[in-house]
Amino acid sequence: MDLLLFGPPGAGKGTQADAVRGATGVIHVSTGDIFRKHLKGGTPLGLLAKGYMDQGQLVPDDVVVDIVATRLAEPDAAAGALFDGFPRTVRQAELLQAWLLAHGRRIDLALNLVVDDAVVIARLSGRRTCLACGATYHIAHNPPAADKVCDKCGGEVVQRKDDAEDVVRARIETYHRDTAPVLGWLRANVRVVDIDADRPIAEVESALHAALRG
Ligand code: AP5
Repeated sequence: MDLLLFGPPGAGKGTQADAVRGATGVIHVSTGDIFRKHLKGGTPLGLLAKGYMDQGQLVPDDVVVDIVATRLAEPDAAAGALFDGFPRTVRQAELLQAWLLAHGRRIDLALNLVVDDAVVIARLSGRRTCLACGATYHIAHNPPAADKVCDKCGGEVVQRKDDAEDVVRARIETYHRDTAPVLGWLRANVRVVDIDADRPIAEVESALHAALRG
């Protein structure tokens, strides 16, 4: 099964990914996480991606599609994947669907997390992320038990550089210009379930489970 977690920055894709992955048993492919891992490792790909991420712009399609294709070629991806933060342009969507169809697969379901821009800004300005394992928190809605210490691994919890207010505004603009049109493509080609994601985390998770059953 191949699924998308779709939505604007801060919609809760990363927060909900574990629950969806757990319910489906497929691997989690987050392009943002892949870039951050490369950035941490100081690889050429990480340095290339940093230039775009720090400005709230998209990494070029060919680079993104290449890293996704590489991940999909690994044996654990054969049963399907949960894509998070990908596709982000219509071209990425078309290339993903073409790759899947060529391998006897297709995008089976897109889970569209719906939140408005004001919610996105409030969430991202309060988001904190573990430097070691990438777990996400929110200073008001979902804080770590001990200040700046990750509940999961004990790592240091900090603010992501691209969660600074000016970069968040650029990311929202990028979303409306380049990524929102993907939704039209998805509605024409794939089963899409809209999820009201402006609700407590547990309620969003229940709605996602219901969509997976339906
Ligand atoms: P990426 O890492 O994908 O960032 P994003 O899509 O902007 O998504 P976020 O991680 O910011 O948000 P999220 O929806 O996962 O929200 P979260 O669960 O953390 O991409 C980063 C950059 O990499 C891009 O800007 C681009 O440069 C590049 N890139 C990545 N993929 C690319 C691609 N395909 N093409 C080109 N470039 C690409 O939640 C946010 C906060 O809200 C957290 O604090 C959380 O605790 C809180 N929260 C979550 N749900 C709720 C709730 N229901 N109620 C209250 N608080 C909540």
